[in-house]
Amino acid sequence: MSGPLLLAVESSCDETGIALVEGGRRIHSNVVASQVALHAATGGIVPEVAARAHLRWIVPVLDAALEDAAADWRDIDAVAVTYGPGLAGSLLVGVNFAKALAHVHAKPLIGVNHLEGHVEAGWLLDPGEDVAARPEPAFPVVALVVSGGHTFLVEMRDHGDFRLLGQTVDDAAGEAFDKVGRLLGLGYPGGPAIQRAAEAAVARDVIFPRAWLGESYDFSFSGLKTAARRIVAAARTEAGLAADDAETSLPEATVAELAYGFQAAVVDVLATKTLRAARETGARAIVVGGGVAANTVLRERIQADAAAVGLPVVVPRPGLCTDNGAMIGAAGARRFAAGERAGLDLDARPSLPLAGR
Ligand code: KG4
Ligand code: ZN
Repeated sequence: MSGPLLLAVESSCDETGIALVEGGRRIHSNVVASQVALHAATGGIVPEVAARAHLRWIVPVLDAALEDAAADWRDIDAVAVTYGPGLAGSLLVGVNFAKALAHVHAKPLIGVNHLEGHVEAGWLLDPGEDVAARPEPAFPVVALVVSGGHTFLVEMRDHGDFRLLGQTVDDAAGEAFDKVGRLLGLGYPGGPAIQRAAEAAVARDVIFPRAWLGESYDFSFSGLKTAARRIVAAARTEAGLAADDAETSLPEATVAELAYGFQAAVVDVLATKTLRAARETGARAIVVGGGVAANTVLRERIQADAAAVGLPVVVPRPGLCTDNGAMIGAAGARRFAAGERAGLDLDARPSLPLAGR
């Protein structure tokens, strides 16, 4: 493996990530400081708290990323940074930091779209991982990105060449996991907590609704959230609990059954639409990314459905699905190779669309 070595900075939401990535694929180091414990106390992300945590951690994360890769600035060809979409205050920390690094070390600067990073994570290789064991996904690819803020399906004819097939018309899949996790008293973030609770489900009888939206590739999860609220209220009444008493929680077995039913509905819709999109667009591979792609049931379901029709699927290991710097290094390398350079006037773009300029 060879190619330029990029130092990549990610701080769009609640993870401070810095990575060194060679040739858009090979990870040399990938350090992430997670704020999950910090935001668990408030049951969700408080943007100003997130921005301050990035400010606190970004220098130690840089030092660790350079040390892990045993690299110094002479080895680095460019600095890549997420400039959107995301929380304005969080993005500003990373963008300003990357600009200062590029300026001081006289390296080119590359602005990277966070969503493109989630897709390009499908091309990453861990240090020492055999290239032959992980072939590159063949184009055209259908990519499903499912995160806390976004849920969409794209057709990708080449790196950087995206056609939006469908997206959520209301909540993102991760957002639905987080909201229903809160409803079930499972805390923040809801995704991993629901997955864990569902694993313990013995009864699996509660069926949550699926929003198919006809033949479209769009998604909707707000009805599921409303159904969850109704089902939780009914279960509380049945268990003899007051409707709105935060101190009393549902029996563990009920929480497990509801977590199972909710997760099954989300996974069913995501997997079914992804497979149909791949079939109808003639895709040669499926790539899945974003925090919700860390979900074991979703990973296994898409892999099984795709295997049944002979389609290869790439789902990065969970640590590369949730926000990290390496995915920004992967996407940044494609932009770097295409000759794209950002000026020192690069600004944060909280609502940047996929592959937007
Ligand atoms: O991509 P990500 O790290 O950050 C954003 O860009 O939003 O995604 C975070 C989301 C959260 O909503 C979290 O609950 C969800 O990913 N998530 C999961 C799992 N791990 C993280 N959802 C379901 N199952 C999981 N195992
Ligand atoms: Zn993300």
